[in-house]
Amino acid sequence: MNATDRTAIPSEPGAPLPDGIPLAVPALRGNEWRYVKECLDTNWVSSVGPFVERFERMAAQRVDVQHAVATVNGTAALHVALLVAGVQPDDEVLVSALTFIAPVNAIRYVGAWPVFIDAEPDFWQMDAQKAVEFLERECRWRDGALWNRTSGRRVRAILPVHILGHPCDMGPLLEAARQYDLTVIEDATEGLGARYRDRPIGSLGDIACLSFNGNKIITTGGGGMIVTDREDWARRARYLTTQAKDDPLEYIHNEIGYNYRLTNVLAAIGVAQMEQLDDCIASKRRTARIYSERLADIPGITPPRQADWAFSTFWLYTVLVDEVQYGMGSRTLLRRLEDASIQSRPLWHPIHSLPPYRGCQAYRVEVADRLYAQGLSLPCSVGIPDEQVERVSAAMRTSAKNTTAL
Ligand SMILES: Cc1ncc(COP(=O)(O)O)c(C=O)c1O
Repeated sequence: MNATDRTAIPSEPGAPLPDGIPLAVPALRGNEWRYVKECLDTNWVSSVGPFVERFERMAAQRVDVQHAVATVNGTAALHVALLVAGVQPDDEVLVSALTFIAPVNAIRYVGAWPVFIDAEPDFWQMDAQKAVEFLERECRWRDGALWNRTSGRRVRAILPVHILGHPCDMGPLLEAARQYDLTVIEDATEGLGARYRDRPIGSLGDIACLSFNGNKIITTGGGGMIVTDREDWARRARYLTTQAKDDPLEYIHNEIGYNYRLTNVLAAIGVAQMEQLDDCIASKRRTARIYSERLADIPGITPPRQADWAFSTFWLYTVLVDEVQYGMGSRTLLRRLEDASIQSRPLWHPIHSLPPYRGCQAYRVEVADRLYAQGLSLPCSVGIPDEQVERVSAAMRTSAKNTTAL
């Protein structure tokens, strides 16, 4: 099958658009073919092999931690990270309300409950002040543990999700975690390469997860990684992701494990992609700079910002659209762009008001809903041609009221 034979589902994020500008498609321009061929030539195609180890070493080095365990995807990484972090059924985990749903589902996979924390209005990340406020006002310390006064459950962990390539304000969260003996599990799936106060995200908490799905800054098609400095946790993650095999010959399994390991073929793509990560980050940042220059003076459009304590990769370039000032809302603009064969996408529906989670506690979630209503991600594939960024920017300008086309 060649590229023109592929039939795209028009609404699928990242799906190729004939003559259009897709939201974010993979850029496989390095050693991917060569390394995959090496797997096929040597018959190392399964879940062990030299590329798995190499990919893990590269990820650990990049995040600046001691250990990395490759997984089939980021959701599996989160599931196992929660298990090895000791999150128990009926525990509670503070998590961002404005996120892709995977980390919240992973909390439920282990039988724990999410407590939703709002997004802050400036960089759209988990609001660290509100998280701390929740811990101080809504919980109490008893018998060497922290308990939620309302639910009566034990609060075990904080799971900040660094969204869109920008870090959360980790300082206050880490401080509170120290004070209340909470584990910090970072969802760094959207933030590989981002830095918080000059530290790579993924190295700040106790354990972190990466994703390499098709729209991430680097991709293996599907893949994930658990990263941590804790040798015992890495060992346990490796054990749980390989069916908890206690005897390789006799099929002895002393616990329930999972078949969550990444294959060597996909890890080969991962190694090739990791070699290009700095270029990918540079490309994303360059695209963000051009967009922000072009869109800055359009009334009602708020470009994304980078905190002075952050290095953002601008993984998914997202703006806010103020319906009154701009003259149309984000969803109308989405359709207008679609008419011009430009793919854009809203932010995620805040999870606390989705059916599976409506009964869960949401602490002062006020901002996330506005960000959801106004947010729109624009095409920003690695290596997107400048001409396409200009075309999107011009379409944004033409759609605005009180502005003239470029
Ligand atoms: C914030 C966040 N967490 C987790 C995931 C899950 O990763 P995966 O799709 O690799 O399972 C994703 C991406 O899909 C994500 O954006």
